[in-house]
Amino acid sequence: MTDVLAPLLDAGQIDAIYACGPHGMLHALAQFARRTSTPCQASWEAYMRCAIGICGACEHDGKVLCMDGPVLAL
Ligand code: FES
Repeated sequence: MTDVLAPLLDAGQIDAIYACGPHGMLHALAQFARRTSTPCQASWEAYMRCAIGICGACEHDGKVLCMDGPVLAL
């Protein structure tokens, strides 16, 4: 899924990644960004209930998206 990014990164055409979309794609981008030390910000969408950080319905990787996101820097 991220195969197209590696040649662009090698050619110096990527300084950072900004992404939104399906969680599977965002996870793949996050792994790519961590592996290549590329700055990355991703918008994680989630169903929200309380929207004040109490219920945990929007929890992602230890963060609550209604308070900490939805855009998270990786
Ligand atoms: S919606 Fe309840 S913690 Fe985010």
